[in-house]
Amino acid sequence: MRVVFELSREHPTLPTAEARACLAIYHGGYEEIYHNGIYVAEVNEEVIEKICSRVAMSFSINEYVGEGMKAVKHLRIKGTFRVEGGRLHQRKKLGDLIVKEYGVRVNMKNPENVVRILQKGREIILGREICPIDRSQFEERRANKWPFSLPTAMHPRIARVLVNLSSIKEGQILLDPFCGAGGILIEAGLMGCNVRGIEIKENVADGCERNLKYYGISDYDIMRGDMRDFDFSHVDAIVTDFPYGRASHLSDEMEKLYREAIKKMADWASKAVIGMPSLKFLPMVEKYFDVKQIHPARVHKSLTRFFYVLGS
Ligand SMILES: C[S@@+](CC[C@H](N)C(=O)[O-])C[C@H]1O[C@@H](n2cnc3c(N)ncnc32)[C@H](O)[C@@H]1O
Repeated sequence: MRVVFELSREHPTLPTAEARACLAIYHGGYEEIYHNGIYVAEVNEEVIEKICSRVAMSFSINEYVGEGMKAVKHLRIKGTFRVEGGRLHQRKKLGDLIVKEYGVRVNMKNPENVVRILQKGREIILGREICPIDRSQFEERRANKWPFSLPTAMHPRIARVLVNLSSIKEGQILLDPFCGAGGILIEAGLMGCNVRGIEIKENVADGCERNLKYYGISDYDIMRGDMRDFDFSHVDAIVTDFPYGRASHLSDEMEKLYREAIKKMADWASKAVIGMPSLKFLPMVEKYFDVKQIHPARVHKSLTRFFYVLGS
């Protein structure tokens, strides 16, 4: 089925990268990307619900109906409907066309169909919503709502995107070797991953466990200590935000820690998504991983993170 992602546009590259990663996990095909916020792709019908439950930086996923108002003839609507997107005059025009063509009624509150006008440059695409994305859940899970929180905790929406960029599937093992209060592990756990974390500070590790329990995540293992003292034969993906010595505790001189940590991580996993405070670590990362993507993101006023998507 051809679908249209309505991207959130809250970041220049992350929403598209996330949609693309989710499709790749479930073997999506053909794609077209428009930088004004839509992403068109071919995807197996059975996995659309799964993708809907994963993505954080799209507003909705829609069945691709066709281009322009004339596509109304492909809509084949039964039951009530509401039109969303586009401009007021476009919504009005489309609503009138649908009523005329199918003799169905508008229901603004609780329609059986949501028809969406999506802008593709100067043209429009008509879509029928398959599933809205529940974005409010990420606000509801912000760190100030956790039993234990730290100022370094990541926004759940960013954490979710990073987990998606790692291409991890439900039931696989995800490790965060600098897990802090568990922002990444919470998102991965809620997606059905088996989560593992390492944290050097005992009280923070305890807090992380409390947070995971609070969200009903039971398949976890939080280890205490310096991540460099651990060994794993294999984990499916590593997703982590490196300590950067401002609010988060830096256990060692930064470059040394980063170098040793990256080397370790390359032994444990062939896929990783890592947040670092600078691009200057790129040559170091490239020694051990194939750098697939880099997404700079402003986390708050004075802090930019660089999210590296790594493979081998
Ligand atoms: C940026 S914070 C992680 C934030 C976390 N991703 C979240 O969203 O809640 C980094 C964490 O790494 C821990 N840490 C620092 N050095 C470490 C080391 N060598 N091994 C394990 N944990 C370490 C710090 O105590 C801190 O809690």
